[in-house]
Amino acid sequence: ERTPTGCPVSQRAAGFDPFEDGYQQDPPEYVRWAREQEPIFYSPKLGYWVLTRYEDIKAVFRDNITFSPSIALEKITPTGEEANAVLASYGFALNRTLVNEDEPAHMPRRRALMDPFTPEALKHHEPMVRELAREYVDRFIDDGRADLVDQMLWEIPLTVALHFLGVPEEDMDTLRKYSIAHTVNTWGRPKPEEQVAVAHAVGNFWQYAGKVLAKMRQDPDAPGWMQYGIRKQMQHPDVVTDSYLHSMMMAGIVAAHETTANATANAVKLLLQHPQVWRELCEDPGLIPNAVEECLRHNGSVAAWRRMVTKDTQVGGVDLPAGSRLLIVTSSANHDEGHFSDADLFDIRRDNASDHLTFGYGSHQCMGKNLARMEMQIFLEEFTRRLPHMRLSEQRFTYVPNTSFRGPEHLWVEWDPAANPERRNP
Ligand code: HEM
Repeated sequence: ERTPTGCPVSQRAAGFDPFEDGYQQDPPEYVRWAREQEPIFYSPKLGYWVLTRYEDIKAVFRDNITFSPSIALEKITPTGEEANAVLASYGFALNRTLVNEDEPAHMPRRRALMDPFTPEALKHHEPMVRELAREYVDRFIDDGRADLVDQMLWEIPLTVALHFLGVPEEDMDTLRKYSIAHTVNTWGRPKPEEQVAVAHAVGNFWQYAGKVLAKMRQDPDAPGWMQYGIRKQMQHPDVVTDSYLHSMMMAGIVAAHETTANATANAVKLLLQHPQVWRELCEDPGLIPNAVEECLRHNGSVAAWRRMVTKDTQVGGVDLPAGSRLLIVTSSANHDEGHFSDADLFDIRRDNASDHLTFGYGSHQCMGKNLARMEMQIFLEEFTRRLPHMRLSEQRFTYVPNTSFRGPEHLWVEWDPAANPERRNP
């Protein structure tokens, strides 16, 4: 097999398959050979060029004109006619939000919508996150075991996301189902028989988003990022468009929810796999902020992102013709020895941990990064204080097969409730 530029494809490049368990379990390990020997390769199975090194990936993020983000939310596995017809029957029209918007439309919109992400604005959400974390831990602290994903880490970031966006809470269970379907629809490889069910869920999600938005328009002064957008639309209808608002109403839930839920589950898993580090963290919670960065670097919740080449160019000495699709494996960049010394070592005191690319980089860098950090820090503060004696249960971790959003579906932990610190110090 050959690349679109006519070069032969190496055997390993031909075998690369991000829907395989190897990639799901440990993406940076799965592409170690590439990072070390063939940092940019063409994947015939995916039809994408795959980038694995820190400097190359950063160069791509730096130039959002040559490397357009327009395909960031595109379905990585094209669906069949039946599924497409189902989506059409719901009027599904998810389009540009921010993350997949080109210039010159993107920057003015990003600027117009930035204020709710300032540290002062985010402070406002902190007590709610703390209260939720305490309440959920209360529910299981005397049980001696819990699936932290099912019993806490899935729902709290969803609740926070809904509050942040300004959405009412009553449809949480439905939304939970829809948002998984959206991940599979966008980044996964559903089998033909699953595609139709996924399409129905995504179609319903789209319509639900439309209804919630209509409700919000009745009361645009209510708190919430979407209401903020609705008010901005009144001043700048060409910058904050209807299509943007409806698309963001759906994509925003996923952007704020699954990323943070998965990031926390990955972080707790990684910490408990290193019991000595976990003990140090419990003894000195002042280490938590940098530990969060190191967890995002070592085992982040977004494994890879996408860009499309708009004009013939070169990256790292490799010719990339206009129209090439790039899978930029940010989780691999985060393990690049060229940027992080002893890159595989999990070191919560690492001084450049926050150089990780898990939030992207440059003009599209994650707007919600400080909200996510705040949530993760609070979860770790509560766990280290109330469950310092917890450990991982025996289990095999499973992941929803997809290229980008990554976190264990379940995370079982156990502890001796008789040894709970709060029983000793009520
Ligand atoms: C963009 C990751 C949490 C809102 C992005 C991008 C990534 C990302 C990889 C694309 C960056 C790029 O193209 O350079 C994450 C991770 C999170 C997280 C790993 C949690 C650990 C959140 C939260 C929100 C949010 C809580 C809150 C609403 C956004 C928005 C963008 C974005 C609005 C688009 C920014 C733009 O294109 O200008 N995020 N995200 N994210 N994220 Fe996040």
